[in-house]
Amino acid sequence: MMIDKRLIGTVSESKKYIAGNVISQWCSLAANITMMTSITKFLSDIYNGTADVKSVAVTAGIAVCAVLIRFICTMCTSRMGYLSSKTVKKTLREKIYKKLLKLGASYNEQVKTSEVVQVAVEGCDQLETYFGAYLPQFFYAMLAPLTLFIYLSFINFPSAIVLLICVPLIPVSIAAVQTWAKKLLSKYWGQYTALGDTFLENLQGLTTLKIYKSDNFKNDEMNAESEKFRKITMKVLTMQLNSITIMDLIAYGGAALGVIMAATQFSKGNVDLAGALLIILLAADFFIPMRQLGSFFHIAMNGMAASDKIFRLLDLPETACTGKTECPENCKTECKDLCFSYDGEREILHNINMVFDAGKFISIVGESGCGKSTIAAILMGRNKGYRGNVTIGGVNLSDISEESLMKKFTYISHQSYLFKGTVRNNLLMGNPDADDEQLWQALERVKLKDFMTNENGLDTYLNEKASNLSGGQCQRLALARALLHNSDVYIFDEATSNIDVESENDIMSEIHEIAKSKTVILISHRLANVVNSDVIYVMDSGKIAGMGTHKELIETDGVYKELWTAQQYLENYGKDGAKV
Ligand SMILES: Nc1ncnc2c1ncn2[C@@H]1O[C@H](COP(=O)(O)OP(=O)(O)O)[C@@H](O)[C@H]1O
Ligand SMILES: [Mg+2]
Repeated sequence: MMIDKRLIGTVSESKKYIAGNVISQWCSLAANITMMTSITKFLSDIYNGTADVKSVAVTAGIAVCAVLIRFICTMCTSRMGYLSSKTVKKTLREKIYKKLLKLGASYNEQVKTSEVVQVAVEGCDQLETYFGAYLPQFFYAMLAPLTLFIYLSFINFPSAIVLLICVPLIPVSIAAVQTWAKKLLSKYWGQYTALGDTFLENLQGLTTLKIYKSDNFKNDEMNAESEKFRKITMKVLTMQLNSITIMDLIAYGGAALGVIMAATQFSKGNVDLAGALLIILLAADFFIPMRQLGSFFHIAMNGMAASDKIFRLLDLPETACTGKTECPENCKTECKDLCFSYDGEREILHNINMVFDAGKFISIVGESGCGKSTIAAILMGRNKGYRGNVTIGGVNLSDISEESLMKKFTYISHQSYLFKGTVRNNLLMGNPDADDEQLWQALERVKLKDFMTNENGLDTYLNEKASNLSGGQCQRLALARALLHNSDVYIFDEATSNIDVESENDIMSEIHEIAKSKTVILISHRLANVVNSDVIYVMDSGKIAGMGTHKELIETDGVYKELWTAQQYLENYGKDGAKV
């Protein structure tokens, strides 16, 4: 109950440090007992008038040695504590990291990014006390009273047994608050991650919030969340303080009882002066380790609550990336009766049948929200849990390893991520082996060469999300990176939305260039961009509403023709207006 077996099993390497910690604490106790014995003996010799120079020297010698040993032991104890918490943090963080790699691109379906960050950073830190202090103290707190009991029982058994019986009152009081504490702490952690989540989101959307003047509203919302967090924190602190007060009462009460016992036993003549003094001096040592355990306990409980979160993360099913097969050479991709739902209730895709022949230029069009990006996410292995079949070169998508899928498929959306760092570093992600000449070639193809030459060349520095470039430049750079990746299949998901017309035209012509040698799946709501496709799939509310070439589709009455007519009217609107 007070020890989490799984947690220790996970980091069994720390066992030896815990043992080392306990041993050095025990040696320190033994040194203390020896020192106290010799001092009390000396005091009683003085009282009896039998003390001489030799006994002064012996006592002083023992005291110095004992202090020295205790000093070394304390150093050892903290070193062992440090080593075990270091091992734990390193092991757990490694496990979390590996787990995330195993969860792969679809991890977001199962766990929020902010939760991962909090668990990996703060959560692992919380375990430092659990392994570095609480666990060793747990064993030492049992070993110390037993050692003292055995030793003192030779001096005066009744006192020793009374002290020993009082010690378990502390863990009993801990156990009494534990169930309550556990519930409270789990709530505390829930509130903590919730607050972190809101904070991260609002921070990322701060510009948007400012534009819409919604920052005050969000501010109030965050204040409310923080207030909840403050309240739960105060509750946790109150609980901890109360329980510490109770433990203190037991510890000091117990020690006082020891003093009373020693005095009565002495007055009855059951113990000599040296023995009575020794019992008085050592009485507190019965309780100090348990009392110490009590204060570690609360921090350790926090760590255990965090470890529940860590294990939840480590236990997430890895249905995603069980695939081991290599992606086949011929990447003819097929969706058969593909159905998909994000939440298990509302179906987004209904019985989609699509074929993407290798080397072809295929487009998917349809109004916003009809499910185009969802299909792309399924092909890229980000959305799992679909029904129906998706095969690449005849192999089931779920059997294909994520790594080889990523080599064959490149996905470019309108919000491809550019990282803080140099242009070179961002481009090298596409192909780590590319030399500068190849990087410049890629920049030239997306017409960024002149701009970058005027800047700092390949060493041009980008801010986070390349916020120091224009939208069009970002998209060009993302395309250059994709070109360097040189994969067989390219999926462009609205890759030209939200950017200036010139960039859009440049990028579209580059996409057409790519289509000559690669498979291109172009998702666009702008039909003018897809006219040249080999096949166009028209989607409407998650269903296929038509397929064929532009010519075929325009000749049949249907969604495509309606969309085309409407968009043509809009696109020519300005031009006609200019003529009039
Ligand atoms: N992560 C998500 N969770 C839940 N619903 C989603 C998610 N992403 C998209 N949807 C829903 O799925 C539908 C299709 O979205 P999407 O495939 O992005 O459309 P589009 O054709 O515009 O790319 C929309 O109704 C949208 O609300
Ligand atoms: Mg979309």
